[in-house]
Parts: sequence; structure tokens; C-alpha cells
Amino acid sequence: MTDRYCVFGNPIKHSKSPLIHGEFASQTQQAMTYTAELAPVEGFADAWRAFVAHGGRGANVTVPFKSDAFALCDTLSQRAKRAQAVNTLIVGGNGRIYGDTTDGVGLVRDLAYHRVALAGKRVLVLGAGGAVRGILEPLLAENPREVVVANRTADKAEQLAEAFADLGSIQGGGFVSVEGPFDVVINGTSASLSGELPPLPEALFAEGAWAYDMMYGSEPTVFLQWAGPQGAKLLDGLGMLVEQAAESFFLWRNVRPETASVRTLLRQSLNY
Ligand code: ATR
Repeated sequence: MTDRYCVFGNPIKHSKSPLIHGEFASQTQQAMTYTAELAPVEGFADAWRAFVAHGGRGANVTVPFKSDAFALCDTLSQRAKRAQAVNTLIVGGNGRIYGDTTDGVGLVRDLAYHRVALAGKRVLVLGAGGAVRGILEPLLAENPREVVVANRTADKAEQLAEAFADLGSIQGGGFVSVEGPFDVVINGTSASLSGELPPLPEALFAEGAWAYDMMYGSEPTVFLQWAGPQGAKLLDGLGMLVEQAAESFFLWRNVRPETASVRTLLRQSLNY
């Protein structure tokens, strides 16, 4: 039986993951399939078990199932424990379920791909939800001078900063207390989804700074449209998507796919 992989989500129809992993598989000549699977909101664990019973060897997990996936693992990576979320499930030889999260590595690899320096830099992260929790450990591992987490609900940013304070210099608070300039500003809020802009103060960007939106779409997000005229260099989350997929693929198949050609393909599929 061919090894089966998939991405679980709800909704899942527009997922780019089957395209990405299909490219990785043909590029590295892996005999495998990768599909998009819609799971019922209250039925993730059952959907996963049925998948494994039919030859499933691993899966990616996206909204809203990253916490459900975290809960069903027998073994968790250190970074998944910190993130309290799992985006990659692996069925071990003994049938045990191993959970990891590759989102944060995906972000850091994408930044490296674009030669965005983090060591010694001031980094602002907007948002304090699950998406941000998933990137803080790999981000702090790059030794930035300081990470500031700013959120609409200031308490959540403060709590997040406390939870990661042993890993580096990190502070949390509300948007109003943010003081620039920053070398890298990462939007990890879900505001872009609804076309909204977090209420950000002026003068956030240092000379030559980068603005990074973890979201992407067929046109630049509201955050990037706001940052561009202020002189920031712009990146959206498409590269992060490809890099987190590459890391998951590596965990499953022990082969590292090449990502540049897949980035190009995906950008073309977005049509801008
Ligand atoms: P995700 O998994 O995408 O992180 P989440 O855990 O629900 O989703 O977190 C959403 C994040 O986006 C939160 O930081 C949220 O701010 P609050 O904690 O104050 O709710 C933020 N967010 C969502 N819509 C926003 C908006 N319109 N302006 C600013 N922040 C927003």
C-alpha cells in the first residue's frame, strides 16, 4: 500500500498543501499520496484514527485542529510542548503517535531564505494567539536583541512573554505601549483575514526594516499595504507555508526537498 499523508482542517478546500507536498514527492521520488481531508469540527480524533486505519502514515493539521492534535499524541517534541499545538503528526513504527510543530521553523527558514537578519535585532510580533505561540521558541533561538509581543488584549501578550522569558529577551503588552523603531515587524494576528489592521502606533520601522505578514492571499494584506509606504521591505506568509511543509516532509520521509521552485509555483497559482 502506498504511504498516505494528508492535511486535516475545516475548512480545507483551498489548502495549498496537496500541491506543495505533491511537488516535494515528485522532486524527491517518494512513493506517497497527499490529500486534503475535511474533518468535522467535533470529530478530529475519529477522522485521524480512520485515516491511520487506511494506511495513513502522517498528517499536517491546520485550523481548528492544532490543539486536538496536540491532545492525542503519545509523544511530543519539545517545541510542540512549548507551542501547545501540533501541526505535524507522525505514525511511528510501533503505531505510537508523535507530534511536532514546524510553523516556527518555517518562519525562521523563510526569513533566512530572504536574508532577513534576526541576531541582535529588535523584533516586534503582533498578536498573542496560537499562531504567535507557535513561532516564539524558534524566533528567540536566533538571538534577537529583543522580542516585543503586542496584542489587542494586553494581558495575553504579557502572559505569553512570561511563558517564554527563559529563552531570551521578550516583553509583552498592548499596542499603545509599543515603541519603535524595530528591524523586523511580524503580523501574527488574524486581523488580515477580515481585512483589518491592528491599531498600530507611528514610527515602528527602522531604516531598512522588514514587515512580515504570516498570512498571504491573492493580493498584499492590509498590514503590508500599510507598511509599504513607510519604507519597509515586505514579505507575506507564503514562504513560511512552503518551509513548514518542507520540515514536515523531512520528518516523515527523512529527505529534505528543495523549496525555491515550489515557492515560484505557488506564487504563480496566487496570481500576483
Ligand atoms: P490564531 O490561531 O490565528 O493565532 P487566535 O488564537 O484566535 O488565532 O488569535 C488571534 C489573534 O489575532 C489574537 O492575538 C487576537 O487578538 P486578541 O487576543 O485581542 O483577541 C488577534 N486579532 C484578531 N483580530 C484582530 C483585529 N481586528 N485587530 C487586532 N488584533 C486582532
